[in-house]
Amino acid sequence: NRLDPIPQPPTKPVVGNMLSLDSAAPVQHLTRLAKELGPIFWLDMMGSPIVVVSGHDLVDELSDEKRFDKTVRGALRRVRAVGGDGLFTADTREPNWSKAHNILLQPFGNRAMQSYHPSMVDIAEQLVQKWERLNADDEIDVVHDMTALTLDTIGLCGFDYRFNSFYRRDYHPFVESLVRSLETIMMTRGLPFEQLWMQKRRKTLAEDVAFMNKMVDEIIAERRKSAEGIDDKKDMLAAMMTGVDRSTGEQLDDVNIRYQINTFLIAGHETTSGLLSYTLYALLKHPEILKKAYDEVDRVFGPDLNAKPTYQQVTQLTYITQILKEALRLWPPAPAYGISPLADETIGGGRYKLRKGTFITILVTALHRDPSVWGPNPDAFDPENFSRDAEAKRPVNAWKPFGNGQRACIGRGFAMHEAALALGMILQRFKLIDHQRYQMHLKETLTMKPEGFKIKVRPRADRE
Ligand code: HEM
Repeated sequence: NRLDPIPQPPTKPVVGNMLSLDSAAPVQHLTRLAKELGPIFWLDMMGSPIVVVSGHDLVDELSDEKRFDKTVRGALRRVRAVGGDGLFTADTREPNWSKAHNILLQPFGNRAMQSYHPSMVDIAEQLVQKWERLNADDEIDVVHDMTALTLDTIGLCGFDYRFNSFYRRDYHPFVESLVRSLETIMMTRGLPFEQLWMQKRRKTLAEDVAFMNKMVDEIIAERRKSAEGIDDKKDMLAAMMTGVDRSTGEQLDDVNIRYQINTFLIAGHETTSGLLSYTLYALLKHPEILKKAYDEVDRVFGPDLNAKPTYQQVTQLTYITQILKEALRLWPPAPAYGISPLADETIGGGRYKLRKGTFITILVTALHRDPSVWGPNPDAFDPENFSRDAEAKRPVNAWKPFGNGQRACIGRGFAMHEAALALGMILQRFKLIDHQRYQMHLKETLTMKPEGFKIKVRPRADRE
């Protein structure tokens, strides 16, 4: 056994562990394996090993960026068909990664969030208006509406484009293409003869990518020649077109800007919509927590439904933020991320040897339920896990929903502000009804979402 003493599940000839991994729900399968095999194990994926780590002590060690760096492999490598050398799918050593990282820190910083706030309110108002106009027996497809919200928000804040998802039955054609492309990318596993039976899908992928690129390239070209001048706009596109990387003195080229926009649409909408959907699920199942959330929203936003929440008010939703963080713990929408050692390494107090370049997956779903950090009942939903005290006492690198270090999510502040605002505006207005008594059923794509989750809402009676 090449990686002894790291445990490995039983293998089959040639394919190793490849076919024994449930391809429709790989993350959930790996999470079960972690329970069985412990904080570190490895799989043989037709000759290439993947080491899966979920124990907090080991993840803490693997979070040292001097020894380990993000690696863009497997499905994420294939996402480059859409994301190119945009931030999410670039290797750290590619010149465009640090250039874009330096330029984009500003438009993802706190100050910029304040300028996006009115656009975020604009889209959240469209969501609550849609819900206000429903008939009493109308069902809400939670993931659909949350995806509409997050997509429209990144469209408007990112490049002043309105997808107008609340005015359509289906998603915008760009999103149809994006979702279809990601599906094909996730289905591709590098198996023998796969190219043959996937021919049609691969052709569609090429067409979809061409369509998405054309749309985004046109938006960029329009802006370049727009009479208003780039500086007048306060969106991320303007920041990318005018920003200069201080360390090289260079700017981003238009092809890279296109890849960044594609990336924001991939990274920015499914994840935040998953977060909001899980949070609504958790609130429905915990009336006592929901009650405290209503109390906070009433205190901070007040009773006037016509007054738009301010940026400051959203930052005061501290209990709502605890709820969101706890939802990110139990159901991290980006459930795993990949790293590899920069040189031959030994971890776990000399126990486990990892060769330079070994593909290591941090299994966040299992890390977030490690009893050595979260106590004997890690599956329980408890926002007190994120009280100021609990956060201060917890070891670092125990909660990693946004990844690690310099390669961590650049959009986390954006996502958290958007989610707190939307949840606040929903709770300010509606009573939530779990008419299906929905039980969590996770669907895995590039992210994980609750499948078939429907609710109903009523105007809050205690408000009338
Ligand atoms: C990176 C999660 C929202 C843009 C990441 C990573 C994670 C993550 C885990 C690291 C991936 C890796 O190591 O391979 C999330 C979650 C979100 C969220 C859970 C919502 C709750 C957003 C939003 C945007 C965004 C709203 C943009 C508008 C990015 C980008 C990167 C990234 C550009 C790559 C950063 C880099 O490597 O330089 N995200 N994300 N994300 N995310 Fe997010």
